[in-house]
Amino acid sequence: MDVLSLDQEVGAWDSVLLDPLTEDSFIANLHQRFKRDHIYTYIGDVVVSVNPYKKLALYSGELVKAYRCRGPYQLPPHIYAIAGSAYRFLRDRNEDQCIVVSGESGAGKTEAARIVLQFVALASGQSREVMIMKERLVQAGPLLEAFGNAKTYRNDNSSRFGKYLDIEFDYKGDPLGGTITNYLLEKSRVTCQAQGERNFHIFYQLLTGADIQLLKSLKLQRNLDNYAFLRSSRIHSLENLDDKQDFQVTRRALETLGFSQEDAVNVFKIVASVLKLGNIGFIPTNNIDGTEGCTINNDYEVFDVCQLLGTEFSALGSSLTQRTITVCATKCCSSPVPQQRFNSPSKNVTRELYDVCELVGSDQATLQGAMTSRTLEESQDFVTADLSASEATYARDSLCKALYSRLFTWLVNKINESTKVKHYGKRKVLGILDVYGFEMFERNGFEQFIINFCNEKLHQVVMETTLKEEQEEYVHEGIEWTPIEFFNNSVICELIEKNNHGILSMLDEECLKSGVLSDEVFLRKLAQCCADNSHCEVKGTAVSHRNFVTTPGASDNSLPPNCFRLRHYAGTVTYNVCGFVDKNNDILHRDLSLAMYRCEHPLLKTLFPEGNPKRSSLKRPATTGTQFKISISALIRNLSCKHPHYVRCIKPNELKQPRIFEMALVQHQVRYLGLIETVRVRRSGFCYRLPYQQFLSRYKMLSLHTWPNWQGPPVEGVSYLIRDLPIPSGEFAFGRTKVFVRSPRTVFELEEFRRERLEDLAVLLQKIWRGHRQRKEFLLKKNSQVVIASAWRSWRAREEYRILRHRKQVEWAVNIIQQHYIHWKRWQFLLRLARQLPPESESPVNREWPSCHRRLTETSIILRRIHHKWRCHKYRLKFDQTARNRMREKVTASIIFKERKASYPRSVSHPFLGDYVRLRQNVQWKKACVETNDQYVVFADIINKITRSSGKFVPILFVLSTSSMLILDQRTLQIKYRVPAAEIYRLSLSPYLDDVAVFHVRAPQLRGDEPPEHSWLPVSE
Ligand SMILES: Nc1ncnc2c1ncn2[C@@H]1O[C@H](COP(=O)(O)OP(=O)(O)OP(=O)(O)O)[C@@H](O)[C@H]1O
Ligand SMILES: [Mg+2]
Repeated sequence: MDVLSLDQEVGAWDSVLLDPLTEDSFIANLHQRFKRDHIYTYIGDVVVSVNPYKKLALYSGELVKAYRCRGPYQLPPHIYAIAGSAYRFLRDRNEDQCIVVSGESGAGKTEAARIVLQFVALASGQSREVMIMKERLVQAGPLLEAFGNAKTYRNDNSSRFGKYLDIEFDYKGDPLGGTITNYLLEKSRVTCQAQGERNFHIFYQLLTGADIQLLKSLKLQRNLDNYAFLRSSRIHSLENLDDKQDFQVTRRALETLGFSQEDAVNVFKIVASVLKLGNIGFIPTNNIDGTEGCTINNDYEVFDVCQLLGTEFSALGSSLTQRTITVCATKCCSSPVPQQRFNSPSKNVTRELYDVCELVGSDQATLQGAMTSRTLEESQDFVTADLSASEATYARDSLCKALYSRLFTWLVNKINESTKVKHYGKRKVLGILDVYGFEMFERNGFEQFIINFCNEKLHQVVMETTLKEEQEEYVHEGIEWTPIEFFNNSVICELIEKNNHGILSMLDEECLKSGVLSDEVFLRKLAQCCADNSHCEVKGTAVSHRNFVTTPGASDNSLPPNCFRLRHYAGTVTYNVCGFVDKNNDILHRDLSLAMYRCEHPLLKTLFPEGNPKRSSLKRPATTGTQFKISISALIRNLSCKHPHYVRCIKPNELKQPRIFEMALVQHQVRYLGLIETVRVRRSGFCYRLPYQQFLSRYKMLSLHTWPNWQGPPVEGVSYLIRDLPIPSGEFAFGRTKVFVRSPRTVFELEEFRRERLEDLAVLLQKIWRGHRQRKEFLLKKNSQVVIASAWRSWRAREEYRILRHRKQVEWAVNIIQQHYIHWKRWQFLLRLARQLPPESESPVNREWPSCHRRLTETSIILRRIHHKWRCHKYRLKFDQTARNRMREKVTASIIFKERKASYPRSVSHPFLGDYVRLRQNVQWKKACVETNDQYVVFADIINKITRSSGKFVPILFVLSTSSMLILDQRTLQIKYRVPAAEIYRLSLSPYLDDVAVFHVRAPQLRGDEPPEHSWLPVSE
């Protein structure tokens, strides 16, 4: 399909749009579309699919994508649209869904189911786990088809079993696993097929596809004609099937589904055994006592089977040709096979019992019961009976059928194990139902009866949900409605399944009877019970019944012997009762079960648990019909709690050819499928409904009135909601408790609006959530930061403290060391100083002093000073009075001149004599000084006097006594000037190297003609 547009559609893509709507226009529309390969047509939400019998480019990943994203009625009709709706409903509404595929045999149900599964596989997630599970679910199909499908007259790949697949999904819509429920395999096909039909595909696949080693290990030959079970059909290969290639597909499926190599070989061994058993022939023999027995004519086949199944020849051989009957004192169990022949010592007892029964006209069970209840014995007795050739053949066939059908069930269980959901949690389920289609052959047996009963029940469900319940609901809800008539098949369903007088219970009744069982008795009973039923005809009953509505070719005259006729929804079918009781009983000889259980083949213990001698129970298992009835009821219950989607398949021709559209055939199907009625109901009805409250809770976000919560009555809320939607109000109808939506397009639009709104809300929620999370994260980080920071700070403080402590310790140590070192150094210094001190004798002016460390400079200076003082002291101690006086003078001179007179330092070393001219000893002076009271001479020396007149130096004697200053002639000692000390008020000296001294004298006291102020040159000291 290149163009995905409704504009390109041929005719009416939805039959609801047909105008006028008649059966002819409906079929013509289908035909018109079929011619252009538009095989799908809608009837509202139902898809009608016409089998094209050719490959069409309608299925691809891109199309799956397109149909997954877009709603129905946006794209051309397709089964993908139905699958897409179911998938969306399941994922978005969280509702279980089911897709019911119906139609007669060859209409394309299995293909449709395969396409739905393909859609699910392509539409869902791609994670590794999901891909594995999807692959398993997909591969289960080919595997079960190989073992459960066969070519029939009506379909080259006809499903000979019913299949219901439940796929479980997680909330994301990814398949987590699945469970397959299988319904009654048509096992009679193993041993016998109608003309033009084939056995199950696996037999042909194995013989044509297996490599030579496998064939050898299975003791098989490639030639199909070598096997009796395949010979009868005489059709070995098919145009549309490639058995060789299909075998590889089957093997791959086995691998994918987790069957080990050993498992696969074990499965093939059983298949091979069935083929081999089919070849076993029996030659009739006569026993000595006149009874009939048989021997096996081709032992080698039995040997081969024994090797394949791991058992003894004697065990299998005897279980095929003989029968053990258990005779209990209090209970009796007998086989349904009539006319037993006995050759054991105790056989006469039983024969006697038969004889007595015949004589007294009682049945064996009653007589035996009467006898045993009297004796109250509890013993058991075993009787071995030979089987006639025909009985042995029957036993062989039973064994083959049991082996095959149980193997099939085992395969289904094994597949289920492999596809089992491994996760716990809430899951939603999508069910896909594909059962065998309605069948009507020339000769119809028990299998067709069961298959058609199944279809009848399914049709009932479909009609009830699509037509009956829907119309009833409109009426109940008070919606204006014109009833549409349709054929209700409940009568036929009841006729078959009714508890007391239904065909199945009658059959069960016959089966449960002890003694000789007969199909004829069942037929007679059926004739009695159905005398008044217009849908059932039995020879001699309904012949005269005026109500039986015969279809062309099904008149009472044409009813062969041993047959009854049922008027099914899809046509009248004539069933031959031959084998009904037997097949319904479906009992396998205990000897055979026992023999199978004892085989070493690993599967057989599981397949024949009743063969376990320890667990053997004499309780009769439920009959096939009852089992089937129960499982179909369970299926119907299962379907009824899921939202259904319907695919109605139509077969366009009986020739299985493309491009042929047989009007009559299609018309027949359109009629019995009730398609016109469905169109009518869909046309004037509504496709979707919900109780007000549910509608409100689903779509309340679409209106501000109802979002986030509506407090008033739900109806009012819904009306507000609908008013706020951009959808015409004609699309909705208000019932008593529910709101109805007319077209699927509106449902889709509602869902789209909801999705968009939910996206917005999700964004809002995300925003809030992210904000909340960020805030939380921020607070956490902040708190963490505080914790970390405080921890860090405390650590840092501790560290600092530690460092400080260390540093302090170090400092302390350094101090101590330093102190000690300094101490030591001082010691050293002092010791050295003591040793190196300048000698005591030396003059205090001696500048020598030992060097020292710079740190001790100060100390050294102090010590030096002390030492110097001490030395001075010592030096002074040595002074006599004179020296002491001299020193005093020196000190006084120092106080006066030091740093004030440049020539002072030169004078320090000279002792101050004062009387440098020895004046005191001078006699003349001695006399003169008394007169002037100048006897205490302080200073006397020859100095240069500068004459005022010539400015020349004139040496004179300068004397300074304690009372005056005197200037004398040096030779005569004549006093030239005498200035009393009191008149000298100042004495000035120049600070330079000269020897000038100025005596400041008060002027008034000057005597003679001396100038008021005189200058003298100082003595040249
Ligand atoms: N959509 C399709 N496209 C192409 N071929 C199809 C399609 N549907 C069915 N067929 C063909 O029709 C044949 C019969 O279809 P299918 O086996 O699905 O019928 P059925 O309804 O399952 O029959 P039965 O009830 O006997 O099992 C298929 O083998 C296939 O060749
Ligand atoms: Mg099928």
